[in-house]
Amino acid sequence: MDFSGAITPALLLLCLSCLVLYLNGKSGGRKSGKMPPGPAPLPFVGNLFQLDPKEMHRSLEKLSESYGPIYTIHLGSLPYVVLCGYQAVKEALVDQADDFSGRGDFPVFYRFTRGNGIAFSNGEKWKVLRRFALQTLKNFGMGTSSIEGRIQEEAQFLVQEFKKTGGAPFDPINPVCRAVSNVICAVVFGQRYEYQDANFLTLLDHLNENFKIMSSIWGELYNIFPSLMDLLPGPHHQIFRNFEKLRQFIAEHIRCHQKDLDPDAPRDFIDCFLIRMEQEKQDPLSYFHTETLVMTTHNLFFGGTETTSTTLRYSFLILMKHPEVAARVHQEIDHVIGPGRPPCLADRKHMPYTEAVLCEIQRYISILPMGLPRAVTRDTPFRGFLLPKGTNVIPLLSSVHYDPAQFKDPTAFNPDNFLDENGAFKSSDAFMPFAPGKRICLGAGLARMEIFLFLTTILQHFSLHPTVHPCGDRPDAPMHRPGQCSPPLRIQAPPSLAGGGTHTHR
Ligand code: HEM
Repeated sequence: MDFSGAITPALLLLCLSCLVLYLNGKSGGRKSGKMPPGPAPLPFVGNLFQLDPKEMHRSLEKLSESYGPIYTIHLGSLPYVVLCGYQAVKEALVDQADDFSGRGDFPVFYRFTRGNGIAFSNGEKWKVLRRFALQTLKNFGMGTSSIEGRIQEEAQFLVQEFKKTGGAPFDPINPVCRAVSNVICAVVFGQRYEYQDANFLTLLDHLNENFKIMSSIWGELYNIFPSLMDLLPGPHHQIFRNFEKLRQFIAEHIRCHQKDLDPDAPRDFIDCFLIRMEQEKQDPLSYFHTETLVMTTHNLFFGGTETTSTTLRYSFLILMKHPEVAARVHQEIDHVIGPGRPPCLADRKHMPYTEAVLCEIQRYISILPMGLPRAVTRDTPFRGFLLPKGTNVIPLLSSVHYDPAQFKDPTAFNPDNFLDENGAFKSSDAFMPFAPGKRICLGAGLARMEIFLFLTTILQHFSLHPTVHPCGDRPDAPMHRPGQCSPPLRIQAPPSLAGGGTHTHR
């Protein structure tokens, strides 16, 4: 009998498994603590077949029904500890904040950033750059009235843009994205762009395209098998071409800033960074150099654009789906602000219902359901386990927002989650769209300001109407929770606004 036909593939599989076990052993050697149990991984692919790549966070939530709130999952050959539900996430990210403050593996970003900038760096470099960015953004008015004025101004540009449609149906995605991006552009580059500016539009196209590809199966596979995917053809290579164009755009701005920099009168974030570079140019260990400037700027631009504009787009969608909620927000705007002046941040404390609606929107949509991957910064005892230094951690933020112990009937959209019995605004510790702890989103304050000011300004001028029934053929159908599914990040393009258009008139 000739077994050669069967033996060759079997032998190949055996060799491959040995190789993977060897490599696992090599990389896993450092992971010699006591990891939480989880589903048994296959060589090379890990637990890939137990996960739905289109809805990764839901697969992870589902697995916690079998393995509990803390378990280990293998993405490829790398183990990740998954934290599910409010208690687990809070005990790790808040109660052991230092231990869980590392950034975990994120190959699709790492290939571009090489660990430079804020979002994907670790250790002292991360601390120094984050502190610098926070202080500089504060100096440029983040959290004060100067940035408030900038957002108010941009919101008026957006209103003008919407008015041009004359009440005809339109897709608000692009104007909203341009308006939001302009706020961060003003802080970082010291200028805003016209909504028709060709360079600006190309840049935002690259940004959007990258989010799309990163959220697709290609981005996911890249995060799990980076070395292999580097060799294979596919759309994922476009991510790096787009990142490169973004880098060139930022580098060009830096060159222009260098030409007319006045150290006594910094105009924006880039100027401040350049001044610090000059001050530390003799220090070989300084973290202030061109590459960290490019990546930090990129973090702010990238982080500050897509997340906030996606939240606004979903807000429109939800308000169209829940006209009774939209009506109460309109009432509050009419009552507190009226038609004669633009909304301002001081209005927030007099508008508990609107505040509750905005929090509920962020809870309900959980646009970064898996947050960004964390890593433990030292060998970390946690709930009877010992996570070796460097272990990747996925905090399932969506599982916190949908934790029935924290929110009544969490799958329903209900602003009462953030209101007390007297109708006053009530915050919740389980509200964590920006993730809690030491790595909390650097732009959380700015994002909350933008969401409030943009949305109230739009609703002051317009009411939103879907072009088809918001629920399709089933009027009682729940709106889909936007899913994110890439390990570890995905922002899914929102469903088209109920038939591709929005009517706006008031
Ligand atoms: C609705 C809007 C936003 C949401 C939901 C959001 C959410 C998040 C989340 C979940 C993280 C990961 C935190 C962690 O490591 O656990 C993060 C990090 C970050 N975000 Fe945001 N973000 C938003 C807006 C912004 C804005 C406007 C900016 C820019 C000013 C920004 C800049 C950053 C940066 C730089 C980081 C990395 C922080 C670090 O690693 O220390 N984000 N964001």
